[in-house]
Amino acid sequence: MKTNITKQKAKISMRMLAIILIGCLIGILYLYKWQPQKETVLPNQLESFTLTELAKYNGSNPTLPIYIGLNGLVYDVSSGKKFYEQGGTYNWLAGKDSSNDLNLIGGDIIKRKYPVVGILTTE
Ligand code: HEM
Repeated sequence: MKTNITKQKAKISMRMLAIILIGCLIGILYLYKWQPQKETVLPNQLESFTLTELAKYNGSNPTLPIYIGLNGLVYDVSSGKKFYEQGGTYNWLAGKDSSNDLNLIGGDIIKRKYPVVGILTTE
């Protein structure tokens, strides 16, 4: 009788564990797969930047905003100044078309975190 109760208890806690595990799995799937992706909303009036113009906004002039070119768009990364100003970890990405590097790593963060301020044009 006693062992039956113990067995029943074990069954219930296994069930609880399974429910918790499935819950976690659904949570992870939601975060990584099902969460609706934010679309970049482009303002109506976008300034055009050539690579030469973009180079001015490379973080070396503290009075100017800091811009990064990514997949034909120009992002204003000034709010992440600590990364992109002179001496910052990612200063080497600023003021240029960094598509090649950012499409490997970090591009998603830029798209999610910073506003688009322009279009990158070939000179
Ligand atoms: C080609 C190489 C890499 C590129 C292009 C790259 C790019 C980026 C970008 C654009 C961000 C977003 C910064 C922001 O929030 O504005 C970022 C964040 C970050 N990266 Fe990298 N990354 C590279 C390599 C690495 C490596 C090798 C490490 C680690 C050893 C690393 C560690 C981090 C960390 C920890 C953050 C988050 C910083 C924070 O939010 O405080 N990255 N990366």
